[in-house]
Amino acid sequence: MTTLVTGGTGRLGRHAVDALRAHGHAVRILSRRPGTDHVVADLDTGDGLAAALAGVDTVLHLATSRSKDIGQTRRLLDALAGTGAHLVFISIVGVDRIPFGYYRDKVASEQAIAASGVPYTIIRVAQFHGFVSEFLDAERRLPVTLVLPISAQTIHLPEVAERLVELAEAGPQGRVADLGGPEQLTLRAYAQQWQEAHGIRRPIWTLHLPGKLMKEFRSGAHMPGLPGAGHVTFRDYLAEEVTR
Ligand SMILES: NC(=O)c1ccc[n+]([C@@H]2O[C@H](COP(=O)([O-])OP(=O)(O)OC[C@H]3O[C@@H](n4cnc5c(N)ncnc54)[C@H](OP(=O)(O)O)[C@@H]3O)[C@@H](O)[C@H]2O)c1
Repeated sequence: MTTLVTGGTGRLGRHAVDALRAHGHAVRILSRRPGTDHVVADLDTGDGLAAALAGVDTVLHLATSRSKDIGQTRRLLDALAGTGAHLVFISIVGVDRIPFGYYRDKVASEQAIAASGVPYTIIRVAQFHGFVSEFLDAERRLPVTLVLPISAQTIHLPEVAERLVELAEAGPQGRVADLGGPEQLTLRAYAQQWQEAHGIRRPIWTLHLPGKLMKEFRSGAHMPGLPGAGHVTFRDYLAEEVTR
């Protein structure tokens, strides 16, 4: 079975490629840059796309540009039409409830996929552990750690990758159950664990922001609910990250 991974050079994509290989898949990585097992193609222009898809059974569509995702998805769907290949698309929990531009693009991609006639599976996933720690890392030089008054149910990337392999192997299922991590923690608790893991002690300040966006995040629209399918906690993830 040959699987093409768009975004195979990205944070999640690298894990997905490893997991697919571990399960015996032949893997092709779609990237704008040459590299081992890469097929060079550009989802913004469509250049190289037809060649990248030749002989492919499954496509994991994990590429993201943060601002042009719907165009990329449409281009991929056009190239997939009539090939019979199964498209597995990663979306984000709560994209239809949270009024955020990037999320609106995800909903548009989900809708375009569902209407396309291409056999598909869509999974909405909660934030990755690394997504929260990247935010906290960015605040490392501040005298305080700023957090929002919301919770999250983050998940470990290798667990997302394993689920993507299961979905690739199961064949088209439409939209499947949302995926999240093993616990729901306040961002304050995330910050405390991050500070402990990095040997940092500084005040944690909560930033209260108005608006519908924050209201939906406060209501937990971005969390799939417990019990989550993931087993690796944020603390486990930090222990691995700081020893790397
Ligand atoms: N961050 C989270 O917490 C979270 C949670 C749930 C779901 N997700 C979703 O998970 C997916 C993966 O996220 P990530 O953080 O792993 O992504 P990432 O690290 O930002 O990687 C982006 C990837 O997109 C590819 N790409 C961008 N523009 C392209 C283009 N024009 N043509 C071809 N490839 C292009 C890049 O490939 P090259 O540079 O090699 O061309 C790169 O591999 C995204 O759809 C994201 O929305 C993220």
